[in-house]
Amino acid sequence: MSETPNTIDDLLAEQRKFVPPPEFVANSLMVGTHLYEEAARDDEGFWARQAADLVTWDTEWDQICEWDLPYAKWFLGGRLNVSYNCLDRHVLAGAGDKVAIHWEGEPGDTRTITYAEMLDEVQRCANVLRSLGVSAGDRVNIYLPMIPEAAVAMLACARIGAVHSVVFGGFSSQALADRINDAEATLLITADGGYRRGEVFPLKPAADEALAMSSSVRNVLVVKRGGNPVEMLEGRDHWYHDMIEAADPVCPAEPFDAEQLLFLLYTSGTTGKPKGIMHTSGGYLTHVTFTHKYVFDLHPETDVYWCTADVGWVTGHSYIVYGPMSNGATQVMYEGVPNYPGNDRFWEIVEKYKVTILYTAPTAIRTFMKWGAQEPAKHDLSSLRLLGSVGEPINPEAWMWYHTYIGGGRCPVVDTWWQTETGGIMISPLPGATTTKPGSATFPLPGVTAELLDDAGERVDQGGGYLTLTRPWPGMLRGIWGDPDRYRETYWSRFPDRYFAGDGAKLDAEGYLWLLGRVDDVMNVSGHRISTTEVESALVSHPAVAEAAVVGANDPTTGQAIIAYVITRGGAEVTVEELRSHVATEIGAIAKPKAIFITPDLPKTRSGKIMRRLLRDVAEGRVMGDTSTLADSSIVDELQRRAAETPTED
Ligand code: WTA
Repeated sequence: MSETPNTIDDLLAEQRKFVPPPEFVANSLMVGTHLYEEAARDDEGFWARQAADLVTWDTEWDQICEWDLPYAKWFLGGRLNVSYNCLDRHVLAGAGDKVAIHWEGEPGDTRTITYAEMLDEVQRCANVLRSLGVSAGDRVNIYLPMIPEAAVAMLACARIGAVHSVVFGGFSSQALADRINDAEATLLITADGGYRRGEVFPLKPAADEALAMSSSVRNVLVVKRGGNPVEMLEGRDHWYHDMIEAADPVCPAEPFDAEQLLFLLYTSGTTGKPKGIMHTSGGYLTHVTFTHKYVFDLHPETDVYWCTADVGWVTGHSYIVYGPMSNGATQVMYEGVPNYPGNDRFWEIVEKYKVTILYTAPTAIRTFMKWGAQEPAKHDLSSLRLLGSVGEPINPEAWMWYHTYIGGGRCPVVDTWWQTETGGIMISPLPGATTTKPGSATFPLPGVTAELLDDAGERVDQGGGYLTLTRPWPGMLRGIWGDPDRYRETYWSRFPDRYFAGDGAKLDAEGYLWLLGRVDDVMNVSGHRISTTEVESALVSHPAVAEAAVVGANDPTTGQAIIAYVITRGGAEVTVEELRSHVATEIGAIAKPKAIFITPDLPKTRSGKIMRRLLRDVAEGRVMGDTSTLADSSIVDELQRRAAETPTED
């Protein structure tokens, strides 16, 4: 950025406010501000108290935190077993018969798994891993559909101190091979296939292709799910169920050091090579247990929690496996897509399991808006009491739609900002304590210190800036696997002594944080900084618009020009001129898109993030590069065709 982000124009003034509803507050774990005050006085002491209250340790730590910038260690000298915390302690406390997972397969088959059953299978699986030569510190790759075995495999690794590296089942064989090779994994856990949109997608054939490109893997465990034919290589490939059935059911949880590597999770950076983000045990578990409990106001006796993420992403790690299970929650796990067999599948699931807490992504919410409010209206959603959002900035209109049509106007919405690198939620309301504003993630959680800086590194108290974190936190990444230089360079070099998250944000007059997306999503039009998110919000606030993606394309006159791609709601009729005027009315003439393309779909990654880089390429008439990470690459051709045909406004 060439000028200070202080000049980001505060164009969209969101005035609506929602105080925590009295019925919610009456029963909430956290009302008032005492946790914030305690943490502000002594953040390390605050986290140590959470670690002592929420996590079971085999040996107490002798030092809370060692901060050797940019490396932090937490709870030094402490020893624990993460799988013990997620399973054994609940069973020992008498909750063995409590449901851990209500699993819903896409075709409609179901499984109910209690904590005792989960513990039994994890112990067997841990023994299977050992019998295949896996010991503490070894890397195990996991490439599975959304089936309970994914959680079992992760917890089995944790039980024996092995390091898992989960690769999202939608990734290609090449992506899997790259990750196996970088981690030098010795075991791969996969499945024959899984269900998606009514069909079986094969995984084992892709795994075979990946294994042909790598040499470290000696054994493969194959879960049967899709029933599709697969080839099993004698001596290397083993059926999971045979091995589990034959395994010794007892595998005591050995304690490991608090800084034992728990997992690697690969995430894309600005270069082509993905980064293996490293997370360790004691601090990470403390962070996700604390945040899962307080951000979701979890009452484990009565709540039914559902996070719709895939275990292949960090949200699935922290808020399907480790946070909820450490807290002894009952949760729903769903295998498939939201529109199979109908556009109301999610709402059918909420009704069926009486889900009380729902955690999903803005991209999903905007898709539901596109499908229309009649879909949730077909079901009784009155069990819901809290809604969460993660992964992208949520537009005020999407927030309002979620609040109104899913939450029935009665559920607080927690917009949670965090990253693969942060391990757990960092900025979010606490639902019984925080007055929310639609579209704002509100404030850093207790124990988290975020500050905005301008280009010169000066603190910004109001207006736009770069989001930085000033203090170490327990769930923070411990580095990039095999690449300490890249770790320093990516996160710690832009501003001295601070973690730079790569996101822009704005602080309003009341100190609320509004995430603006990655800093490269901030446009500069005729010297005005305008966030793509703000223009998207304005477009989505038009009744005919379901979803919008905005990019800044190079423009010889104005520096950048605003180019918008719009999906209309249920085929509603609207002209481009009407939408341009609407943006002008909402924000100002400066924010009027130069061109608006009405399109049936947007290019998204398989995790649902809009690929703005590709949209910029289309807008600037560039030839498309690699589109293989897209969920549907045909949409790019369609957009290019439309771009060539559509005149632009000047
Ligand atoms: C974005 C997902 C605005 C942000 C947990 C961040 C968000 C990146 C929010 C990390 C939010 C995540 N509001 N933006 N509530 N949550 N982001 O690593 O740009 O897949 O840097 O972690 O997603 O994505 P990641």
